[in-house]
Amino acid sequence: MSQKGPFPVDVEAGKSYFWCACGRSENQPFCDGPHKATDFAQVKFEAPDSKRVFFWGCKHSAAPVTCDGTLNRL
Ligand code: FES
Repeated sequence: MSQKGPFPVDVEAGKSYFWCACGRSENQPFCDGPHKATDFAQVKFEAPDSKRVFFWGCKHSAAPVTCDGTLNRL
C-alpha cells in the first residue's frame, strides 16, 4: 500500500533497489510483482553511497524514488 510519508531505508553502495510505482506491493517501498496487472513498472535505484534514503510512499512525486515534498501538498 502507498502512504503519505516516505519510507526510510538504509541502502548499500553499489546495490540496486526496485521501487514500487504502482502502490500494490505488499513489501513497500519495493516491488514484489503485482504491478503486472497495471500500466506501471518498478523503478530501479542504484545506491551511490551507503546511507539512509527516503523512498517516497505517496506515488505522486514528480521525481521518482526520492521524496521531493509533493506529499505535503496532498
Ligand atoms: Fe508496484 Fe511492482 S508491485 S511496481
